[in-house]
Amino acid sequence: GTNDNGRDTIRERMNEEIQDNLDEDFELELEDSDLADLLQEGKEHPGAFPRKLYFTELLRLQRELIKFQDYVQANKLKVVVLFEGRDAAGKGGVIKRITQRLNPRVVRTVALPAPGERERSQWYFQRYVPHLPAGGEIVLFDRSWYNRAGVERVMGFCTDEQYEDFFRSVPEFEKLLVRSGIVLVKYWFSITDEEQNLRFQMRINDPLKQWKLSPMDLESRRRWEDYTKAKEIMFERTHIPEAPWHVIEAIEKKRARLNCIAHLLTTIPYQEVPHEKPVLPPRVHHPDYHREQI
Ligand code: ADP
Ligand code: AMP
Ligand code: MLT
Repeated sequence: GTNDNGRDTIRERMNEEIQDNLDEDFELELEDSDLADLLQEGKEHPGAFPRKLYFTELLRLQRELIKFQDYVQANKLKVVVLFEGRDAAGKGGVIKRITQRLNPRVVRTVALPAPGERERSQWYFQRYVPHLPAGGEIVLFDRSWYNRAGVERVMGFCTDEQYEDFFRSVPEFEKLLVRSGIVLVKYWFSITDEEQNLRFQMRINDPLKQWKLSPMDLESRRRWEDYTKAKEIMFERTHIPEAPWHVIEAIEKKRARLNCIAHLLTTIPYQEVPHEKPVLPPRVHHPDYHREQI
C-alpha cells in the first residue's frame, strides 16, 4: 500500500490480523465440532445453534469480558469462579473461551492434580488457599474443593468422616472467603447420561481428544448413579445464600458457553474503565547505528 503516512499499511495489516484471528477462532471451534460438517459451509445440522450468531455473540461477550477484567483490575477486586460438573460436561471449553482474549496476569486457571501424600495429610482446603486471588485477580478453578463431594466420595478416595467433615466445613470456608471480600461464583455444568456416553465415544475415536479420557472418566460411566446422588447431596448442603450454585444446561455446547459467560458478567456491576488512547513515541535515531533489522 501507499506509505505516505502509513495509514493504508496499518489498515492492511489490521485486515490481515483480523483474518489471522478468525483462523485461530475457527481452529478453536474445530476442536469441538464435526470437522466435515464445519468445512461444508451452510451444512449445520438441524437444531444447531447458528454458527454465525454464535461467533458474533461470543465476540460480543469476550469484549465485555475485557471490560470486566479492566474493572476488576482497576478496583482491585478478587474473583473466584468454580467450574464443576460431570466428566466431559464442557468445563474446559468454556474456560478456554473466557481466558482466550484476557490478560493471563489478571485471569488464571487452576486445575490441580490429584493430591499427593503430603497434601493428603494437610487441612483439606490448604492446597487451594495459595491459589486464591490477590486484589485485581480472577481465578478460574477447573474443578475445586468440591472434588471431595464428587469424585472422592464416589471413587472412595476419602473416608466417610472426611466426607462429613467437608460438608461441615465448606459453608464456613466459603462464607469466610466472601466476608474477606472475594466474589465467589459456582457453576455446575449439567449433561445427561446419554450425552456423556456420546462424548466419551467421540473421545475414544478422536486422536486429538483421547488425552482427555482418563481412567477416572471410564469408571465414572459405570458410577453414573452414584455421581447423581453425590451431586444432589452436594447441592443440598452447599447451596448457600453467600455462595449459591448456578446450573448451566450444557448439552448444547455453544449455548452453554454463551450462557455461562453472560451470567459471569452479571456477577459484578462493572463499568468501562476509561483509557487514554496511547500514542507511540517516535524512535530515537542514532547517526552511527545502521542495522535497521535484527
Ligand atoms: P479431569 O476429568 O479433570 O480431566 P480425571 O478424570 O483424571 O481428570 O480426574 C477427575 C478428578 O479426580 C481430578 O480433579 C483429579 O484430581 C481427581 N482425582 C483423581 N485421582 C484422585 C485420587 N486418588 N484422590 C483424589 N482425587 C483424585
Ligand atoms: P455404599 O453402599 O454406602 O458404599 O454406597 C454405594 C455408592 O453410593 C458408593 O459409591 C457411594 O459413594 C455412594 N453413596 C452412598 N452414600 C452416599 C452419600 N451419602 N453421599 C454420596 N454418595 C453416597
Ligand atoms: C469437561 O469437558 O468438562 C472438562 O474438560 C473435563 C473433562 O473433560 O473431563
